[in-house]
Amino acid sequence: MALAIMCSGGDAPGMNPAIKKFVDYSYKKGEEAYLVYDGLEGLIDNKIKKATHQDVAGIVHIGGTIIRSSRSKRFFEHEYRLKAFNNLKSHGIKGMVVLGGDGSFRAMEKFSSEFDINFVGIPSTIDNDIYGTDYCLGVDTALNVIRDALDKIRDTASSFNRAFIVEVMGRDCGYLAVVSAMISGAEICIIPEVEFNTQEVEKKLLKEIEEGRNYILAIISEGSKNTSQVHAWIQDKLGLETRVSILGHIQRGGNPTVYDRLMAFDFTIKAVDYLLSHNDSNKVVVFKNGEFGFMEIEEVVSNKYQLPQHYLDAINFLD
Ligand code: F6P
Repeated sequence: MALAIMCSGGDAPGMNPAIKKFVDYSYKKGEEAYLVYDGLEGLIDNKIKKATHQDVAGIVHIGGTIIRSSRSKRFFEHEYRLKAFNNLKSHGIKGMVVLGGDGSFRAMEKFSSEFDINFVGIPSTIDNDIYGTDYCLGVDTALNVIRDALDKIRDTASSFNRAFIVEVMGRDCGYLAVVSAMISGAEICIIPEVEFNTQEVEKKLLKEIEEGRNYILAIISEGSKNTSQVHAWIQDKLGLETRVSILGHIQRGGNPTVYDRLMAFDFTIKAVDYLLSHNDSNKVVVFKNGEFGFMEIEEVVSNKYQLPQHYLDAINFLD
């Protein structure tokens, strides 16, 4: 059977180890492996190439994705999905592994409901916001990038009487922010999922400042959309000169960590095995409570990821 792999949406560290494993493992199983370049845009434009081991040699340690990715508007139109399907058919491709996030899975759900194509999704996004899985590829690397930045910012923050606000990615999900705040000992964490108790935190921090605290580290999730208000609040109410750092796209880059490489290998083997043993798959590989499993794509895309309760509880009581 010919199988293909494609990356879609925001890239995530771990995609390259997954691509390498996909090619090596498919050939080991006696199947043909294809690479779809440029995500859904490339699927429409037939940028599909039979893979060799050489194509994926020396990529396991590199961030991003060697086959590139895209966010496609055209794929939402039927005529382009038909084009994409005909391209896959012309190469004899029967099954696809798709590395992507929520939006990409939504597109694949539509695609597979219209055409006879089997696919298995691998949750891949630094946002960690996909329903049904505790872990998405790329999250550990992104957290380590953020951790490194926060450790450095704390060095300079502690050398002055200053507050630092660090805005992290995550789209509408506060996962990166809350985990980063916990592991860096931040004093403030603001995420879209939890109402921030300004009065409570203000009281606590003013007391600490009175007792000698000379700096504050605040983490804000980009989805909270209130970085400038928080900036004003800290300066006016806590009386500290305040600087803002928006970490931006550096959070999406970097060599995948050991954990992301191992997870990429495991996710991919599960996905390929599933495709080879089923001919009607519309699934996502999920990692839940330490175990791999599969969930219907429809269930994944029609539900919203919820942060675990202990993270939500931690928000107003960081110490
Ligand atoms: O979904 C990954 C992500 O990096 C989000 O955290 C962020 O909001 C978004 O993608 C940025 O998208 P783009 O790279 O298109 O600017």
